[in-house]
Amino acid sequence: MKTTSVLELLKGEKLLQEVTIKGWVRTFRANRFIALNDGSTINNIQCVVDFENTDETTLKRITTGAAICLKGVLAESQGKGQKVEVQVSSIEILGDSDPETYPIQPKKHSFEFLRDNAHLRTRTNTFSAVMRLRSSLSFAIHQYFNQNGFYYMHTPIITGSDAEGAGEMFQVTGLDVKNPPLTEDGNVDYSQDFFGKETNLTVSGQLEAETFAMSLGKVYTFGPTFRAENSNTSRHLSEFWMIEPEVAFMDLDGNMDLAEDFLKSVLGYVLENNADDLAFLEQRLIQEDKSKPQNERNEMTLTEKLRFVVDNNFKRVSYTEAIDILKNCKPNKKKKFNYLIEEWGADLQSEHERFLVEKHFKCPVILFDYPANIKAFYMRLNEDGKTVRAMDILFPGIGEMVGGSQREERLDILKQKMAALDIDEKELWWYTDLRKYGTAVHSGFGLGFERLVMFATGMSNIRDVIPYPRTPQNASF
Ligand code: 4AD
Ligand code: MG
Repeated sequence: MKTTSVLELLKGEKLLQEVTIKGWVRTFRANRFIALNDGSTINNIQCVVDFENTDETTLKRITTGAAICLKGVLAESQGKGQKVEVQVSSIEILGDSDPETYPIQPKKHSFEFLRDNAHLRTRTNTFSAVMRLRSSLSFAIHQYFNQNGFYYMHTPIITGSDAEGAGEMFQVTGLDVKNPPLTEDGNVDYSQDFFGKETNLTVSGQLEAETFAMSLGKVYTFGPTFRAENSNTSRHLSEFWMIEPEVAFMDLDGNMDLAEDFLKSVLGYVLENNADDLAFLEQRLIQEDKSKPQNERNEMTLTEKLRFVVDNNFKRVSYTEAIDILKNCKPNKKKKFNYLIEEWGADLQSEHERFLVEKHFKCPVILFDYPANIKAFYMRLNEDGKTVRAMDILFPGIGEMVGGSQREERLDILKQKMAALDIDEKELWWYTDLRKYGTAVHSGFGLGFERLVMFATGMSNIRDVIPYPRTPQNASF
């Protein structure tokens, strides 16, 4: 018989029918009630075992974590907490789980402990909900671009260029592990490059995306990117996924409109399609809040927060205006606000961003027109000669969610900028070519996917929204 998913069974449409289900035991109570989960939903199905007619050995093997196959009839449940249950007629143990050693017990585990058991943490409610939401958001992202006339392009992972010009790259060597190149004295020659060329793992697919935008019009990438910055924060990973749309004939205003519409659309998608997982994560946060002092609790529930972003306009503020606001705000050391910024030209620290978003505007903020010298080489210089057409989107609880810009499309100015920053023109000959042949206004942005997943799930550490986090301390699994 075909198996039915738990999600399908809980709809109750198969009432009184014979069903077959496969899944993992979450709990087994009183030798009678199995809570079974198969990943299709946050909810378990209750399966009632006829223990008098089941042999002892089988009953003993129904342990937390075991994989089992059940046959039975879907019936209305007499008990509280569920509408339907399966009256089990046969049990097959597919894979045992030793209760003495299985790490995921039916109790609350710390996130640190679960990070050390990342291969099993999606057997918990929290992590299965987070990963289903992550999958749903990926789908919503592809759907958004597909419906809006964008082509999906794959940018290289191994590349010779430093797209951000910030030198935060992991080098790729051409080492053949089995047969490594050796130095004259017989040691492995680690200085060897990728088949004779210096390469690194990509920090961003933007520059290649620009080449496609200048021929296909509207494109986006969605792939892994790598940063060798040694940041041990709850918002940085060494390997993260980035979504980067790039559009020809679009200026910075169009870029801001696109980013705002895009974010509202994908968050709206999960509100519509992931209600059960969101409700579970929302309850988790409400419980967590209870152990916090009043002033540290969330003002809105998770779904209220998402709904707020979807329904309200983002605030658009120039960097210069933001600096004025920060200069005029009263620092309050007691409440740990010390936001004062010294002068125009300084880069904003995360405490400044948090003040603007969480205390001052209380909504997502798009900051634009940053000083040229704190931003990347490819951003379009404004008429004032000192600011560039950059934008960052800041979100409450997250900080920088998006970084983007209108690109410098004028060859002479781009060349001056590259020279000033010591960027070798020869290395980026193909990039400058775009400005020689049919150059045009164009813009794009990068969204850190894990930061979006953090916002959508309410998780506070970026390591808990990616299957296997790569950070300066952790690259196992
Ligand atoms: O601001 P960034 O560095 O911008 C770029 O890479 C541009 N090339 C994007 C573009 O215009 N096409 O990175 C973009 C976003 C950030 O806003 C942040 O959300 C995320 O990527 N990000 C990280 N996420 C996790 N860990 C890190 N180490 C991150 N660095 C950036
Ligand atoms: Mg940035």
